[in-house]
Amino acid sequence: MEPVKVGLLGLGTVGGGTINVLKRNRDEITRRAGREVKIVIASARNVNKKRNFSTAGISLTTDPFAVVNRTDIDVVVELIGGTELTLELVLQAIQNGKHVVTANKALIAIHGNEIFAAASNKGVMVAFEAAVAGGIPIIKALREGLAGNKIEWLAGIINGTGNFILTEMRDKGSHFADVLAQAQALGYAEADPAFDVEGIDAAHKLTILAAIAFGIPLQFEKAYTEGIASITREDVDNAAELGYRIKHLGIARHVDHGIELRVHPTLIPDRRLIANVDGVMNAVLVQGDAVGPTLYYGAGAGADPTASAVVADIVDVVRSLTADPENRVPHLAFQPDTLSDVPILSVEEITTAYYLRIHVMDKPGVLADITRCLADQSISIEAMIQKEENEESKTVPIILLTHRLQEKQMIIAIQNIEALNSVVGKVTRIRLEHLIAD
Ligand code: NDP
Ligand code: HSE
Repeated sequence: MEPVKVGLLGLGTVGGGTINVLKRNRDEITRRAGREVKIVIASARNVNKKRNFSTAGISLTTDPFAVVNRTDIDVVVELIGGTELTLELVLQAIQNGKHVVTANKALIAIHGNEIFAAASNKGVMVAFEAAVAGGIPIIKALREGLAGNKIEWLAGIINGTGNFILTEMRDKGSHFADVLAQAQALGYAEADPAFDVEGIDAAHKLTILAAIAFGIPLQFEKAYTEGIASITREDVDNAAELGYRIKHLGIARHVDHGIELRVHPTLIPDRRLIANVDGVMNAVLVQGDAVGPTLYYGAGAGADPTASAVVADIVDVVRSLTADPENRVPHLAFQPDTLSDVPILSVEEITTAYYLRIHVMDKPGVLADITRCLADQSISIEAMIQKEENEESKTVPIILLTHRLQEKQMIIAIQNIEALNSVVGKVTRIRLEHLIAD
């Protein structure tokens, strides 16, 4: 049989990994797909750049439209990144009847609804396994393996760069900027690393996971997003003393009145497996009503792990070339005309527990004032520690863990605590999740 011809957009970290994996495992991949997969053309900004992989046998161009418009290509693999040029390229490829494989979570989270509609009209596939959690086959697990379940919630460490930075800072005391530079050198970070640090990349991925888990349209603009920059060594140590680790989590939870969609630093009990996922590794914990909790773990970024997911998608596309388009696995797992309009909740409406760090003047009655502010909002305390006085500021840090409550109650309580004369500065608030089946 004729090889399936692939056009590759992008020769960076993931593009190079994809070329290498396809070459290294060619025989295995052909046996699985039923046909050989051949990259015939690839584009990059600079085709003369020295690269650490061989492009022998692939014609190179600086014009990405030459790839999507080439008539003998069956599959376009988009590994450029960004949302403007790539939207144009992907829609043009679909218009030309090509199947598309992409690792671009920003593109899918923001423009996926439009892209999938266009693909369905043309009867082509858009596959995006590599867009979430690097090499972990989490899209396939959610879309196919867990298709018998009602998904109740999922929580994941879904940004490799962020987890790498937090781990290196905690274990080696390294500085933020140094570890970020290391993550960039290793090819983990986004072109704009603010996407990793500010939680935007994790929110893109969480948007995709939630759509597939709950059968809702992609709604990135409604995701609540906080990054890792606010995490301090002091809070990491306090959390450890109380038996918790701080991880940057994406959480999607189906509750009675809507869906929580949120990305933020989170305290997790240190005995949970997911609390011990370190470095560039990612993990996603999924709670299904039938199966219970399942955990998916693996490399969240990097050339070969991401290429593993890209190539798996190419194999899926090749296998489906002869399948009836109406009977393929739907892009967002649920049939497109059955997507639900259940609302995404604002962050004020989410329910979670909290870690609070409050700096106070060491005066009688301070603690009573703080607990009154919490009690006024019906907030109950689970644990409390008072630390040594800080000799410089002459303040005493008080650490509190609360039971679960609605965020809007906590917002009022924090405002009232910060207004107390004996409280110095802002209250540090980190959400806390026990991650056990409700
Ligand atoms: P890189 O920056 O390493 O590579 C991007 C490639 O696209 C380069 O070859 C670059 O050309 C080319 N390119 C960039 N801008 C343009 C443009 N305007 N026109 C034409 N070509 C362009 O990115 P990655 O490989 O790291 O990431 C690619 C995609 O995969 C992104 O969507 C990213 O989010 C996603 N991803 C990345 C992972 C990772 O671990 N790195 C993991 C999972 C997903 P040139 O080489 O000449 O500069
Ligand atoms: N920058 C992303 C990360 C790449 O670090 O997780 C993988 O999506």
